[in-house]
Amino acid sequence: MLKIGKGKAFDKVLQVPGDKSISHRAVMFGAIAEGTTRIENFLPGEDCLHTIECFRRLGVKIDREGPTTLTVHGRGWQGLREPDQCLDVGNSGTTIRLLLGILAGSPFFSIVHGDASIARRPMDRVVEPLRRMGARIDGRDGGRFAPLAVRGGELRGIEHHSPVASAQVKSCLLLAGLRAEGWTRVREPHPSRDHSERMLTAFGAKLSLEEGTISVRGGQGLSGRHVRVPGDISSAAFLFAAALLVPGSRVTVRDVGINPTRTGILDVFRSMGAEVTVTPKDQWCGEPVGDVTVTGGPLRGVEVGGSLIPRLIDEIPVLAVVATRAEGRTVIRDAAELKVKESNRIATVAEELRKLGARVEETPDGMVIEGPTPLRGGLLDSHGDHRIGMAMAVAGLAADGGVGVNGEEAIAVSFPNFAAILKELE
Ligand code: S3P
Repeated sequence: MLKIGKGKAFDKVLQVPGDKSISHRAVMFGAIAEGTTRIENFLPGEDCLHTIECFRRLGVKIDREGPTTLTVHGRGWQGLREPDQCLDVGNSGTTIRLLLGILAGSPFFSIVHGDASIARRPMDRVVEPLRRMGARIDGRDGGRFAPLAVRGGELRGIEHHSPVASAQVKSCLLLAGLRAEGWTRVREPHPSRDHSERMLTAFGAKLSLEEGTISVRGGQGLSGRHVRVPGDISSAAFLFAAALLVPGSRVTVRDVGINPTRTGILDVFRSMGAEVTVTPKDQWCGEPVGDVTVTGGPLRGVEVGGSLIPRLIDEIPVLAVVATRAEGRTVIRDAAELKVKESNRIATVAEELRKLGARVEETPDGMVIEGPTPLRGGLLDSHGDHRIGMAMAVAGLAADGGVGVNGEEAIAVSFPNFAAILKELE
């Protein structure tokens, strides 16, 4: 059990591990590129380690020189071979969905599976368009759920209007589109994170973005390159929240990714009344990087919805914790996607926060939090979901008597040294 006591005011400069989304993509794109891809500040979290293992099983040589440094020896699409065992993605939605886009156009048979959470998450959102491209995929419930079996082969480009803003769907189809005949075009209701677009371009692919539709022409190869991964703003968000939960605190996180498709949480913390300073420093492989400082103060409730949701989808659990300290009502809407994350995050956030005395009402597409409510200590559970585990641990900093979080091993999925960093803030 992870025990977190009530926090004392702090002023810290910290760093967080590499971005999860970018780490996955660096390995995957390096694996299908020609030549060497050297990756620095790779996230050694369980999800990304599963991506490495999947590509090793597909015949790609990947050397790990240190915990956060790797070299992927890509030999192009032709370098992939039929795996002799099932590909295990663990808990990682990004791994399974992007991998399916690569396997669909690879001329061999493979089976992908993951843990109990992965087996519950919808795969039809990628299986259906991939089948329209010509892919042969089968799985539980007609291919709606993993395990999934893929017999890869020739693909043709399609135009796909995704009903949900999802970078995993978009990236899956762009990867399949790289091998397909003709053009593949993807449109989504609001822009989702654009790491694939930036990194594919850095690896030499040509993509075009017109009026919200991203297009790729088939038959393009990638070239390996050096990738330095920015710190993960989704991990940093827990530390920003900590500064808002413990009165009189300030935190600076250095070298964190500040891609505008990911910084929605900073905009929301600002509109709640927090002081947020962003100092841009550099671009790493097409990704903006900077230092971000968050200073606590009185907070007010906010309404969050629409195109902001994909820009902070992974930060909603910790935003809900912060909202318990804000004056007035916080309304989160248009976020039904939360139900199909590593856990049903509308239900798990509400269940856990209520244990501490928070007033949280679940709605079909989000939640309403009435604040401020004093938080009492309690025994909480991660529900096997890394971000629920971390959000609840952070809540402990504001709870009288602190909290204990069971199932804390899930946190290693995205932020392996989280407990050590948070202990410094107790
Ligand atoms: C991710 C996209 C998002 C996000 C997930 C990582 C990615 O999921 O929630 O943590 O790396 O592309 P969706 O594409 O399902 O929105």
